[in-house]
Amino acid sequence: MSELAIIGGTGLDKIPNLEIVHREVCHTPFGEPSAPLTHGRLGGKEVVFLPRHGPAHSIPPHRVNYRANLWALKHVGVENVIGVAAVGGIKKTMGPGLIAIPDQIIDYTYGREHTLYEADLPHVTHIDFTQPYCESLRQHLLDAGESSGVKPIAGGTYGATQGPRLETAAEVNRMERDGCDIVGMTGMPEASLARELNLCYASCAVVANWAAGRGSDPISMKEIEKNLVQGMEQVKTLLITLLALRAV
Ligand code: HPA
Repeated sequence: MSELAIIGGTGLDKIPNLEIVHREVCHTPFGEPSAPLTHGRLGGKEVVFLPRHGPAHSIPPHRVNYRANLWALKHVGVENVIGVAAVGGIKKTMGPGLIAIPDQIIDYTYGREHTLYEADLPHVTHIDFTQPYCESLRQHLLDAGESSGVKPIAGGTYGATQGPRLETAAEVNRMERDGCDIVGMTGMPEASLARELNLCYASCAVVANWAAGRGSDPISMKEIEKNLVQGMEQVKTLLITLLALRAV
């Protein structure tokens, strides 16, 4: 099986049932990753785990060194990457507690170091990003979702915002008009850097709250945390099933 990495987001800074084999400190040409890479076994299967926001959840979405994170994973031989991420639900079908495996992205971020193709290039390089996620890994996640009973939503457009503030109601309205189903702060440039590195990347999005202006109450951290605890339990079940199926 090719090595699978899990990038954990808010609510998944560690995986309690991950049997840790060793931790590897990586230095990359782009700086330091969010944390040492944790090589371990989940359900008896090898995985590499990296908490996107650092071990103590102290790195905000716009300060994550996405380039170093993806580069380090590639460098240790990872081929498949699942980016777990908390999101807000925009569309009526994307209620809190649900899990989605999106199939499209709209990028609203700015000012982030977003490419590895920057200096000392023999020629200008453009990557194909028509389908931003790796379809085979998406399908494996959806199959594992069906087998485990987690039943994630298949598809949806992830709108990536800059953060760390949440959106205004008008911004969410615009995103819905654009076709976004969910909104999160970390989906980009993670997905496009993975493509630049030829990594097979898919997102597992946990809906933590109704996006701004969509719920009846203001968004509270308490609500987000409550939904994430439940959602991340489902993510763990899904990941263990995926590994058990030896699907990647
Ligand atoms: N917006 C952006 N990012 C998020 C949200 C949200 O509503 N919820 C969790 N991450």
